[in-house]
Amino acid sequence: MRIVLLGAPGSGKGTQSQRLVERLGIPQVSSGDLLRAAVARGTELGRRAKEAMDGGRLVDDSLVLQMIRERLGAGDTRRGFILDGFPRTLAQAEALERLLRDLTQPLDAVVQLEVDAAELVRRISGRRCCADCGRVFNLFTSPRAAIESELCPRTGAPHRLTQRPDDNEATVAERLRVYEEKTRPLIDFYRARGLLRVIDAMGDVEEVSRRLGQALGAPALRAARAAKPATRRAPHRTGARRKAAQPKSARRRPKSATGRAARRGKARAGLRVNTRGKSPRTTRAGQGRPKGKPR
Ligand code: AP5
Repeated sequence: MRIVLLGAPGSGKGTQSQRLVERLGIPQVSSGDLLRAAVARGTELGRRAKEAMDGGRLVDDSLVLQMIRERLGAGDTRRGFILDGFPRTLAQAEALERLLRDLTQPLDAVVQLEVDAAELVRRISGRRCCADCGRVFNLFTSPRAAIESELCPRTGAPHRLTQRPDDNEATVAERLRVYEEKTRPLIDFYRARGLLRVIDAMGDVEEVSRRLGQALGAPALRAARAAKPATRRAPHRTGARRKAAQPKSARRRPKSATGRAARRGKARAGLRVNTRGKSPRTTRAGQGRPKGKPR
């Protein structure tokens, strides 16, 4: 399954990607995480990307494309991948299309996560990451004391919460503006190719996961089972031989993955920060996600 998650900053691409990683057993490829890792390591790419990232602007297409080409060339993407934060411009989308055509690995689905601006800003302003393990939290859904009472799996000490340098009010405003200008046009690009599915990504993390599962439909759920041998079920007793002769993907009904998502816990939130003229829908908010490696 080769999936692109599209959506504005803070729409939950990383959070939902992580859940798909668990569900489908394929890697998340987050351009933001890759760039932050490059910045943290002080590589040439990191040095060239940092200024744009700090200002909320996009990093040059050529740099990002080179990075993504290398990442998609790694062996763990052969069974599929979830692209989070890439592509972000029409040039990137066209280049990705060419790259995947050359690899004979076309995209299966592009899912647009729709969240209103007030909620985007609220989610971003509440985001905190553990400086050691990289796990992402949200202060609106998990009180700081509760987060800090958990032990970081990397250090064994309480999580050390930090805020992303680009999660400040001025930079967020620029990131949202850039998203509208450069990335929103990708919706039409992918709609024209019949790949686009749009979901309402307001609501808590569990609810959004459930909608995402529905949007991806049977192919994703069949892939999830194929990716996780431990969860495979034996063919039903009745007609077992006939079923065993079918491809596994044809034997399983796409039901339990959404069921699993729906059974997970619920989360809540509140909000603040000026959102200038955007639609004022309210929602309950969900938990953070462990996004990428420590930066
Ligand atoms: P990147 O890291 O990709 O940032 P982004 O697109 O701005 O996305 P975010 O990571 O802010 O949000 P998200 O949608 O992943 O939301 P999350 O799940 O974390 O890019 C950073 C920078 O790198 C860019 O500005 C650019 O400079 C550069 N860059 C990256 N890719 C590039 C590219 N392709 N080309 C050029 N430049 C590029 O959720 C946010 C918060 O909300 C979390 O705290 C989470 O816990 C919480 N949350 C999630 N879901 C819910 C929910 N349903 N309810 C309540 N809270 C929720």
